[in-house]
Amino acid sequence: MKRDLLSPKDFSPEEIEGIFSLAAELKAKQKQGLSHTFLLGKTLAMIFEKPSLRTRVTFEAGMTQLGGHAIYLAPADIRLGERETVQDGARNLERWVEGIVARTFRHEMVERLAQYAGIPVINGLTDRHHPCQIFSDLFTILEKRERLQGLKVAFIGDGNNVCNSWLEGAALMGMHFVAACPKGYEPDAEALAWAEEYAGLSGARLEVVYDPRQTTEGADVLYTDVWTSMGQEEERTRRLRDFQGFQVNRSLVERAKPDVLVMHCLPVHRGEEITDEVMDGSRSVVFDQAENRLHVQKAILVKLLGGNT
Ligand code: CP
Ligand code: NVA
Repeated sequence: MKRDLLSPKDFSPEEIEGIFSLAAELKAKQKQGLSHTFLLGKTLAMIFEKPSLRTRVTFEAGMTQLGGHAIYLAPADIRLGERETVQDGARNLERWVEGIVARTFRHEMVERLAQYAGIPVINGLTDRHHPCQIFSDLFTILEKRERLQGLKVAFIGDGNNVCNSWLEGAALMGMHFVAACPKGYEPDAEALAWAEEYAGLSGARLEVVYDPRQTTEGADVLYTDVWTSMGQEEERTRRLRDFQGFQVNRSLVERAKPDVLVMHCLPVHRGEEITDEVMDGSRSVVFDQAENRLHVQKAILVKLLGGNT
């Protein structure tokens, strides 16, 4: 039975821990130059409706390092749902390749691809979720702090795809997650409801507040993301106004724990959601996060495309 990864809750906490162990093993092997060709001869199709640096390069390099191959399909190449139906596209792809990564506007697009394709579909970001990012972020925190349970993550900014996936990820791993968003920019109600219900099992604590200064006390992680996500460019002027006061800057960082980790999924709009000083400062781990996209996604690929996991 094939498995998909459309949002973090598609994996159990035990499976996520398994991904992290494998990611650590693959990271060590890669650093030592040891062969780890677990996906020899396998092919990944990568459908992108939006631009990407990190997701594209890490999946593509990851497949190469695993002994497989990735095919990048740019927005103009296939136009799923326009040139042919999603169903027909999926039914072609499943005959040729072992897996699909898709970055789409509508989340329903990856759901439909997963429904019709008999091969694993991995969400490489939709308007609603970004699971590979959050798994890489959790792995980065685990590397730095050696645990996740009980740690406090303060997310300052837009209740967007990254925030929604963080809610699920934090709930799964029993963390304390506080999102501070301007009114009208709260996270997705469905992601929040699922996370709140799961928190009852995992011991997680989840909050949505409207003042960033309410989040920082005892925070182990300060996380932010762009105020204007891909596809929202025409809202930029309004968003720049509405997010005033939500910048991660020195005065906010000084309110958190002295050893707080500052995180950002990138790309960054410097001088908007975060200052240069904090982005490039000693607490920032943003490039470790970006590196770990490679190792964690390789582990996800091995789990989903490897055949015997
Ligand atoms: N963080 C992230 O997904 O980056 P890209 O948009 O460059 O892939
Ligand atoms: N929220 C951002 C994340 C980019 C990785 C966006 O969707 O553009």
